Amino acid sequence: MNENELISDRRGKKPIFVRGLGSYLPERILSNADLEKIVATSDEWITTRTGIRERRIAEENQYTSDLAAEAAKKALADAQCGPEDVDAIIVATVTADMAFPSTAAFVQKKIGARNCPCMDLEAGCSGVPYGLELASALLRQGPYRNILAISADKLTTITDWQDRLTCVLFGDGAAAFLVSCEGVGAKWEVLHIYIANDSDGTDILYLPGGGSHMPATEETVKNRMHFLKMNGKEVFKEAIKGMGLALENVCALGNITPDQIRFFAPHQANKRILSAIAEHMNLPPERFLSIVEWSGNTSSASLGIAMDHAVHHGWLRPGDLVAPVSFGAGLTTGACLLRWIG
Ligand code: UT7
Repeated sequence: MNENELISDRRGKKPIFVRGLGSYLPERILSNADLEKIVATSDEWITTRTGIRERRIAEENQYTSDLAAEAAKKALADAQCGPEDVDAIIVATVTADMAFPSTAAFVQKKIGARNCPCMDLEAGCSGVPYGLELASALLRQGPYRNILAISADKLTTITDWQDRLTCVLFGDGAAAFLVSCEGVGAKWEVLHIYIANDSDGTDILYLPGGGSHMPATEETVKNRMHFLKMNGKEVFKEAIKGMGLALENVCALGNITPDQIRFFAPHQANKRILSAIAEHMNLPPERFLSIVEWSGNTSSASLGIAMDHAVHHGWLRPGDLVAPVSFGAGLTTGACLLRWIG
């Protein structure tokens, strides 16, 4: 058996493909120099500690569903499909337009798809592997043919602009995959997916206010409970550990070693996290796609935006293995093994 046969062994499962990929970043740029005017920080601190120089900020009247719809339209164009071809919509987000209806429902309207099932998925920054896993499972059991798995976040709406430790990190963005059981004209084959959650870490990255646990009151607003809270140091350590483990697990599923992977598309949280994983796995850092310098941390969307960037720059060759890998609130982890068809 050669290498390709080994990684294609899906144990009798129906093959799953990505027919189209699209991403979207809002136009408005927020630079480190802009942030210096908002909180006590410096361009030097932000670039040294995170690698981030600028991030994109959505307009006030541009909601998560707008970002998601833009990415979805690009994925459909990439697949040469129309909204009538969409059989279901999944939106992974932690910044839904509203508590209900689902953000996916708003996306359905905005892209002109009709009557297909719509659902939101909450997996922190792991929206890509979780979304691909859910879409693959639905496609395998039918009757679906094409499912939009979108990851979108307008994280700047839950960012505390008085907290210098977190507000320098985040940006807004979206990525969409048209996942399909039809291989004709497909760009990627989805070979393996690994997803997990370690609930011991629910207290290091969370947003306390607004849910059933702490409904909104004047007090919760005054105490800034509707903004993201993070223990940066702990999250940093867990991110390295969690993404390393997710990669090992997805490689085991594919019966390959990490050095056979052409590119890793890690969650773009901090350049230092990417370097640490590369070092820990003894792999060249240039194999870890990094867009954090100009995108910031776009939460669930970041892996997809990084993959789209690699495609648009022509960095992939047919047959290349690409591994998106993520880490997020939950604590979720996930990794996928995809083959670029071209
Ligand atoms: O998608 C969600 C996943 N999120 C992540 O993966 C984030 C993971 N965590 C991190 O990336 C890093 O922990 C941070 C970038 C958030 C912080 O970096 P750090 O090296 O862990 O900094 P620190 O928390 O140890 O803070 C070092 C110093 C502190 O000052 P003292 O106590 O040494 O005097 C902070 O008060 O830097 C100070 N500091 C800042 N200074 C300037 C914290 N934030 C800032 C800031 N500008 N924005």
